[in-house]
Amino acid sequence: MSYDYNGPKIVVDPPGPKAKAWIERDNTVLSTSLSRTADLVALRGHGPYVEDVDGNVFMDFGSGIAVSVMGHTQEHVVKAVQEQAAELIHANSCDYLTLPQIEYAERFLKLTPGDFPKRAFFSNSGAECIEAGIKVAKYNTKKSGAIAFLGAFHGRFMGSLALTTNSPVSRRHYISSMMPGVAFSPYAYCYRCPFKQQYPGCNMECLEFLEENVLNRVIPPEDCAFMILEPLQGAGGFIIPPKEFLQGVQKICRDNGILFMVDEVQTAFGKTGYFLASEYFGLEPDILCVSKAIAAGLPMGITVTRAELMEWDQNTHENTLGGNPVVVAGALAVLDLYEKEGFTEKAAKVGEWLQAGVRELEEKYELIGDVRALGTMVGIELVESRETKEPATAKRNRLVELTFKKGLLILGAGKSSVRLAPVHTMTEDEVKLGIKILDEALAEITK
Ligand SMILES: Cc1ncc(COP(=O)(O)O)c(C=O)c1O
Repeated sequence: MSYDYNGPKIVVDPPGPKAKAWIERDNTVLSTSLSRTADLVALRGHGPYVEDVDGNVFMDFGSGIAVSVMGHTQEHVVKAVQEQAAELIHANSCDYLTLPQIEYAERFLKLTPGDFPKRAFFSNSGAECIEAGIKVAKYNTKKSGAIAFLGAFHGRFMGSLALTTNSPVSRRHYISSMMPGVAFSPYAYCYRCPFKQQYPGCNMECLEFLEENVLNRVIPPEDCAFMILEPLQGAGGFIIPPKEFLQGVQKICRDNGILFMVDEVQTAFGKTGYFLASEYFGLEPDILCVSKAIAAGLPMGITVTRAELMEWDQNTHENTLGGNPVVVAGALAVLDLYEKEGFTEKAAKVGEWLQAGVRELEEKYELIGDVRALGTMVGIELVESRETKEPATAKRNRLVELTFKKGLLILGAGKSSVRLAPVHTMTEDEVKLGIKILDEALAEITK
């Protein structure tokens, strides 16, 4: 397959006629629970570009929710997957051993924070690697409670959903069916501090509240198996807390004999300018969950824990397809890109260009209330007024739609934010082109 993408190219107003026909078919057979933020009917992709069925080419500033950051159909990954598929597709993860899993675990564990022995469990998705973390924590501590943070997204299974509060819709009608025993504490969302404080200069009331109220009154330490957090909230709106907050939660866990679980499903693989966000924030999770970019879009998650936590009885937790040889071959190729081709460093560079462009937009448009940025992960929160901070949800939705029409893929997050997580191999000119489209769309919305 050869590609000659030189930038976004809209040949017919999307969705074009072919896309419309596919959308109609999709509407009749697929679950209507899928959000379908934009009418993209993707046919192929390469590098930072995705082409739809009508021949429109889109620049991908979202990487399919922070997944394809190494670029679509990355050559090294494609080759590794093709070779493995011709060799062995499946053996079964419960009963037999496969080479890619062992090699991957050996390499990946060395890249995770904490100078202690570790073990890994392979799964098929972000939610599933969180479920494994929940089970590890409960099995080892024999405690039934957990604490999570408001606005978090950890997945949609009955365990991970019980820890998720980013949107009211996902929990509706499941309240009494989800995993019981979860209490919530406010996250350090400083732009909208629930304690009406300003950071720096506050007393970290969020940590005080966690310790004094949630931990000591709702789920006491002797009943709390784990606390879980995202180092920066992804679906919640790319909310970046102060390091002090995350390290404070970690300390409260350590002081109280509670396992500290970090959900890096979205933040891992260089997006923050660090291979793992935990490195930047100075965290050493007892349980670390990683997925999304791990295998360039192939379904994979991994849960890494202190070794002793995963020295549990056989059959306690396993799956058939987790760590499938083809998927892990893709993941090994992704690791090569980070270890040998400097994909974290590339991301840091793209992040600089992206942040510079977005900061210019922030100066230009009152509609932008807050910009939160770490590496290539850039959240832009839209507000009706910078004074009242009223969320501009309809305008955010319009921004996502308009940029799509102009050939740029971005994703919404939180109440009125958009999140950018572009491909790490973009050139400065490509980043500027994406910023230009954002600029044009913002101009149209605010005129
Ligand atoms: C932080 C975080 N955890 C867990 C998940 C769940 O991952 P999946 O959609 O693969 O189940 C997501 C997905 O967006 C996520 O962002």
